[in-house]
Amino acid sequence: MYNSKIAGLGFFVPENVVTNDDLSKIMDTNDEWIQERTGIKERRHVVKGEDTTTSMGVKAAQKAIERAGIDKNDIDFIVFATLSPDYYFPGPGVLVQRDLGLKTVGALDIRNQCSGFVYGVSVADQYIKSGMYKNVLVIGSELHSHGLDMTTRGRGVSVIFGDGAGAAVLTREEDPKKGVLSTHLHSEGEHAEELSLIAPGMGKRWVTDIIGDADPEDTSYYPYMNGQFVFKNAVVRFSEVIMEGLQTNNLTPADIDMLIPHQANLRISQFIQKKFGLSDDQVFNNIMKYGNTTAASIPIALTEAWEAGKVKEDDLVVLAAFGSGFTWGSVIIRW
Ligand code: COA
Repeated sequence: MYNSKIAGLGFFVPENVVTNDDLSKIMDTNDEWIQERTGIKERRHVVKGEDTTTSMGVKAAQKAIERAGIDKNDIDFIVFATLSPDYYFPGPGVLVQRDLGLKTVGALDIRNQCSGFVYGVSVADQYIKSGMYKNVLVIGSELHSHGLDMTTRGRGVSVIFGDGAGAAVLTREEDPKKGVLSTHLHSEGEHAEELSLIAPGMGKRWVTDIIGDADPEDTSYYPYMNGQFVFKNAVVRFSEVIMEGLQTNNLTPADIDMLIPHQANLRISQFIQKKFGLSDDQVFNNIMKYGNTTAASIPIALTEAWEAGKVKEDDLVVLAAFGSGFTWGSVIIRW
């Protein structure tokens, strides 16, 4: 048995900055409401035609591969997490294989929304632990902006989400005390519709239902979120799954050097920080700049923290996510 470790990280966000004031020009919202409720000041939106979920993922991956110090042909497997794929099918994993010019390695698409990157790291970790693969590329990428309801009707959702991508190369670690120590995954489909995008989906049954006489009142093509319900579940599940990971490794919150929570809402991160008695130096947040980028949020935040020298050799790094499904999970890493 081997361990896996994160050998290289990269991220990409589109240049186009959309501030809260920009949004207030197209819907009934304001900077104060958004900052007070979510901590978000601005987010990035892809300018139409400039990027896709896959192309952002590819750019993040190129950086991660370069920093891992490996040749792209050493990648044995691709894991791609997103809720905003370029196509209904095939998923973006194969598009990355093509666009990066990789050998015909396997490509797996993950549909776990905000928990997607944590699930992806867990999958990569198992392949590396078993000895099947040595280098696995894990990407989280999202292009939300093209699919949001940018009117007052959709403001409860559309002010929160942003576009971007992050990637990590996981590689074999010989030292059993280093790298990914454990991963913890959960789901509770009972709440599937509380944070969801219903159409297009075969639940709609007939393609004519999807594209036919479009009903202006039909909001099922836009993401729906029961915000308060999601918030209440998020704070409970985040706390549980972080503790589960720590206890599995006989650790306590005091052992955490860096917690990278999924950037769902600054208030959720602050709640977790307070609950575990962590200092500002022990929790990394960048939702202020990028909004919630779902599957991309943890790899973007982890890359920024690492670039800023806030993730160092031997640090105990905890990744934790909660999102649509509901799904949630954590990863405990000795860096
Ligand atoms: N701008 C201004 N007003 C808005 C608004 C916006 N963007 N969105 C909603 N409102 C209004 C509502 O219409 C409502 O008005 P009313 O009282 O007249 O009906 C009021 O603000 C309060 O709405 P509510 O949804 O109760 O606000 P909230 O305090 O619950 O905050 C969220 C909303 C979405 C910020 C909050 O519930 C949240 O962060 N939830 C978790 C979301 C999350 O983390 N999702 C990702 C999980 S991975």
